[in-house]
Amino acid sequence: MKLTDLSADELNTRQSELLSAYTQFKEARLSLDLTRGKPCAEQLDLSNDLDGILEGFFLLQNGTDVRNYGGILGVPEARQMGADILGLQPAQVMVGGNSSLTLMYNMIAHMAPQWDAEAREINSKVKFLCPVPGYDRHFTICESFDIEMINVDLLSTGPDMTVIENLLAQDPMIKGIWCVPKYSNPTGHTYDEETVKRFAQLGKIAGRNFRIMWDNAYVAHHLTDNPARLHDLMDESMQAGTEDNLVMLASTSKITFAGAGISFLGTSEKTLAAFEKFLTPQVIGFDKVNQLRHVRFLQDGGNLAEHMNKHRTLLGPKFEMVQNKLQEALGDKGIAEWTRPEGGYFISLDTLPGIASKVIKFASDAGVKLTPAGATYPYGMDPENRNIRIAPTFPSLTDLEKALNVLVVCLELASADHLLSQ
Ligand SMILES: Cc1ncc(COP(=O)(O)O)c(C=O)c1O
Repeated sequence: MKLTDLSADELNTRQSELLSAYTQFKEARLSLDLTRGKPCAEQLDLSNDLDGILEGFFLLQNGTDVRNYGGILGVPEARQMGADILGLQPAQVMVGGNSSLTLMYNMIAHMAPQWDAEAREINSKVKFLCPVPGYDRHFTICESFDIEMINVDLLSTGPDMTVIENLLAQDPMIKGIWCVPKYSNPTGHTYDEETVKRFAQLGKIAGRNFRIMWDNAYVAHHLTDNPARLHDLMDESMQAGTEDNLVMLASTSKITFAGAGISFLGTSEKTLAAFEKFLTPQVIGFDKVNQLRHVRFLQDGGNLAEHMNKHRTLLGPKFEMVQNKLQEALGDKGIAEWTRPEGGYFISLDTLPGIASKVIKFASDAGVKLTPAGATYPYGMDPENRNIRIAPTFPSLTDLEKALNVLVVCLELASADHLLSQ
């Protein structure tokens, strides 16, 4: 029954029951963590064969010795793998070090002087659009370059394109947008075809040097037999003549080793050449030995789907556990909504407006760490204070169950307190 339909007496009784369950959790002195989207140890184990896979053979097919300096855009075999993953041509792709975030940061650092010069000319500020809820580290990059962030709602079809088109038409100092187009962090939504087609037109509406940061971090991370299909933005952009505006990113962080994978950046050959020039003073070449290890291990990408199925076997039960627990405890209470991702690493949970930080504090006092309230919004400010990101991948199934038991009680208790105080 909906909590909102209870009489004051019934709500008081329910509040007492919840308080007693909560007190028991506190006494159990738990120490559980649902914060960061890290792979669990069993997932990392799936890629242990990376270690030693080269068996002393360091030569590429073209005779290049990967132990030596050079090759800033990456080894051809790894560029081909990145092209397959991102749906591009190898000439449009470079392979970086272990973090796609570094490539994103560098792309912004590369563009920032041009954007800043334009901003000074017209006494304005550089701005970025941020579909929300979104990935906190994207927002941190903007903060570190003093780029003003503008929230745009993320709908189940993708960001609100009408709002985006209107904003871009009005303000040429909006220089970019962050996107996680497939199994978005944290909602799990995949942008639909119409949204992708409208993205391809944005370069025509926006001011100079606009960049779509298309972070496809979860491109291969399916949890179902019929994976969501993401429409091909590069193809659409090339037809529209806007490919220079598009920057695609991915990495093997959640495929092999989170701390020792390889990363990919894909864009037009023109934008890639300019980015290469920017990188040249800071690096002679990224870790080509690791690139070769990944090519051997994932067999030029051919082995990828099979490998990702092994991840799914480990992660599927965890995502199912979250759905079952939330449904069982909160399904009919009318106090929370949550997403049902078919891939990726997160579930997005919305409480009643105004109480997410209280739920997170209750959970923390009972020994369950959740991502801080507001983390999924620019400047850490969730205007409605209602979004909570659940990251179920790292804890064991047993710990996850314990943590969820605490979370649902905290959420209902905070909701009951809130309703009684009105
Ligand atoms: C959307 C998104 N992009 C990028 C990253 C980090 O990628 P990398 O390890 O390649 O730097 C994450 C990690 O959680 C993520 O969720």
